Amino acid sequence: MSDTLTLALSKGRIFKETLPLLAAAGIVPVDDPETSRKLILDTNLPDVKLIIVRASDVPTYVEYGGADIGVAGKDVLMEHPHAELYEPVDLKIARCKLMTAGKPDVDPSSGRLRVATKFVESTRRFYAEKGEQVEIIKLYGSMELAPLVGLADRIVDVVDTGNTLRANGLIPMEHIADISSRLVVNKASMKMKHKRMQSFIEHIRDAVREQN
Ligand code: ATP
Ligand code: PRP
Ligand code: MG
Repeated sequence: MSDTLTLALSKGRIFKETLPLLAAAGIVPVDDPETSRKLILDTNLPDVKLIIVRASDVPTYVEYGGADIGVAGKDVLMEHPHAELYEPVDLKIARCKLMTAGKPDVDPSSGRLRVATKFVESTRRFYAEKGEQVEIIKLYGSMELAPLVGLADRIVDVVDTGNTLRANGLIPMEHIADISSRLVVNKASMKMKHKRMQSFIEHIRDAVREQN
């Protein structure tokens, strides 16, 4: 149905923190993605569906029109060149900071600093702006392990409470960016379903204002 709105969300914190904003826009999912194996979830509104995708895949689904709208962390968006996406609302959820971290009191080995991260683009940009030549090692998770086993001198990861760094004997070092989740929308959908999309975006904007 061309009038159906499809929203791409990831399970976990983004889904949980987006729920109240959707509720304020009158949208309540019928299934719970934490217990259901379904990837397309119905909502109370027949013309709104939710699709459940990996956090880092949200921009891809929205860019190619697999979803009209998505919720993605700024950290994810900074890794994804997204000419075909609009980013109309800062939802102010899933807030954290993108930071460098490492072991305290350790002089990095001479030569190039080795930096382990899943945020390769942001890391490349950050060190390039500092004029520092580094070797970036791409990982997909558990970055905190890398300095402990000598894989890297530093990591770049998101930090909220700092508990994960502390638990692994690491300290936060440089602040790269403040992160929160954003509403992203497909440019073509914005043209084709303008009224429906505009009304959804306005409802979400109001809900964010009320929450903050
Ligand atoms: P995946 O599980 O698919 O590897 P992920 O770990 O990035 O992806 P989530 O942990 O659900 O997925 O994180 C989704 C978004 O929430 C991130 O892109 C980031 O913007 C934000 N985020 C990540 N960790 C935290 C945290 N500890 N506190 C607050 N926000 C966070
Ligand atoms: C995220 C992130 C850090 C941690 C930071 O992990 O990858 O490890 O949160 O938060 P903190 O500063 O409050 O400890 P997440 O909880 O998403 O687990 P994951 O490894 O499954 O992504
Ligand atoms: Mg995570």
